[in-house]
Amino acid sequence: MQIETIRLKNFKVFQSLELTGLPGLAVFVGANGTGKSTLFDVFAFLSEALQGNVTSALAKRGGFKEVKSRMSTGNIEIELQFRLEITGKERLVTYLLEIGEFKNRPIIEKEILRYKRGRYGSPYQFLHFSRGAGYAVTNEEDFNK
Ligand SMILES: Nc1ncnc2c1ncn2[C@@H]1O[C@H](COP(=O)(O)OP(=O)(O)OP(=O)(O)O)[C@@H](O)[C@H]1O
Ligand SMILES: [Mg+2]
Repeated sequence: MQIETIRLKNFKVFQSLELTGLPGLAVFVGANGTGKSTLFDVFAFLSEALQGNVTSALAKRGGFKEVKSRMSTGNIEIELQFRLEITGKERLVTYLLEIGEFKNRPIIEKEILRYKRGRYGSPYQFLHFSRGAGYAVTNEEDFNK
């Protein structure tokens, strides 16, 4: 799996970040406090959120208000685009997670997994959840059904 794009909104020091066309090997250089560790924490955060849950992944980092960019009012958004072989074909997959707050508790505003099934057409959403409701396609490899 190769990550090609990372988009962040309101994730700690990154109020708005877009890294596109990432190569197979990327090196990040920057002064102290510019967000190198924060960028890599995105992967730890997602891993913990997906294996456990978003609330505990946030709690480990001080809670929603500590993770959300200071002085910002928007939701936390993490979007990754990566190439992955699915049913024998390499596909460009997009995963998007948007976290908001509702009644002082974190809530998933949006969780989407999508990729193009064929060469043409718009990307198909295999998973789409918002505020506890949505769908996940389980026979995604059987495109004809
Ligand atoms: N919620 C937040 N909103 C805005 N900025 C934040 C937030 N949380 C942390 N920061 C800032 O992010 C910066 C820390 O970034 P990070 O630790 O990723 O930098 P770094 O490049 O790894 O630095 P170093 O070279 O010292 O390891 C600090 O300046 C900190 O104040
Ligand atoms: Mg660091």
